[in-house]
Amino acid sequence: MSGGEGIEVRGLVREFKGGVRAVDGIDLSVAPGEIYGFLGPNGAGKSTTVLVLTTLLPPTAGTARVAGFDVVQHGPEVRKAIGASLQESALDPFLTGREHMRLQCALHGLPKFERDARGSELLARVGLTEAGDRKVNTYSGGMKRRLDLALALVHGPRLLFLDEPTTGLDPQSRVALWDEVRRLADDGVTIFLTTQYLEEADVLAHRVGIIDRGKLVAEGTPAELKAGIGRPSVEAVPQDPGDRERLIRVLHRFGEDAAAASGAVAVRLPTGVGELADIVRALDAEHVRVADLRLHAPTLDDVFLAKTGRSLEGAAQGEQGEDGEDGGNGGEHGESGAVGGGGGGEQEPARASMQQV
Ligand SMILES: Nc1ncnc2c1ncn2[C@@H]1O[C@H](COP(=O)(O)OP(=O)(O)OP(=O)(O)O)[C@@H](O)[C@H]1O
Ligand SMILES: [Mg+2]
Repeated sequence: MSGGEGIEVRGLVREFKGGVRAVDGIDLSVAPGEIYGFLGPNGAGKSTTVLVLTTLLPPTAGTARVAGFDVVQHGPEVRKAIGASLQESALDPFLTGREHMRLQCALHGLPKFERDARGSELLARVGLTEAGDRKVNTYSGGMKRRLDLALALVHGPRLLFLDEPTTGLDPQSRVALWDEVRRLADDGVTIFLTTQYLEEADVLAHRVGIIDRGKLVAEGTPAELKAGIGRPSVEAVPQDPGDRERLIRVLHRFGEDAAAASGAVAVRLPTGVGELADIVRALDAEHVRVADLRLHAPTLDDVFLAKTGRSLEGAAQGEQGEDGEDGGNGGEHGESGAVGGGGGGEQEPARASMQQV
């Protein structure tokens, strides 16, 4: 059981009018000081879970304790303990960053003499010192996300909810936000972070829960989840197609056949990635020249695929197509396009970082 600053969720259900079970029986625990990554495609139920855990939506069934308090019975205590940066942030375009900070400090009851200093400290923390006196309608999407994070930190919460904090951010802003999240966790803040980015969950979260269609389909550390999927494979393309047979013979010394792209040969490695150097040496010794050699380590997408039969990247479209959703989620189609379409280059880093030559 987690202590006062963690999260305990049992059998959580949230059904919307019309029978959509956005959250369909979720159990999870987040330990104090942990970064928990809640990974899932569009429409999986991430924001609904966050809204219930932050007391903004009542659950239909089940229980949730946040910072030691029941979200239904002790809403005010939960709200006092947590900070939240929600997907739909409520910034006023006509106020400056600094004015937002001042207002938030006042709402949280900070004494007047502390407000300016606290606002400046947090604006500096998220890299908005210079932009602090500009109106929010001049901010980029990333700057708004960072201001939203600063606002969530005003009262020094021990538990922080971040709903897709990096969606739409450029790679540099994304990494800066990851650094900030890590710093907060180092300071002991418990962080519940939703994301649809594989790489984000992989590099940032201590533990990941994968959610699909309202259900938790896998949970563990990124390493555990990937290890559960199997061994990495190595794939090679001969420079000279005539060398294919010799390439197969060399690779077969290292593992069994695995699925490969056309023209390529692949084997699954029985132990791990350490064998790559041996493979390169063996190919060299046999004078087999390769045009391409890559290692495919299991990714969180492979985990998602294994659990749901679909790829995480393609899952959202299928879901939305089925539900025939529009309106409310219309704005999010654009976002999902940006993700899948390489706006953040998200599929690439996740895959590319696993490829070595
Ligand atoms: N207020 C609502 N009324 C009816 N259905 C809703 C409502 N809010 C969400 N839903 C539905 O619940 C499901 C889960 O939505 P949710 O917003 O929790 O997904 P998500 O994982 O946060 O997705 P995204 O990555 O797009 O933000 C979707 O099918 C959505 O259409
Ligand atoms: Mg959402």
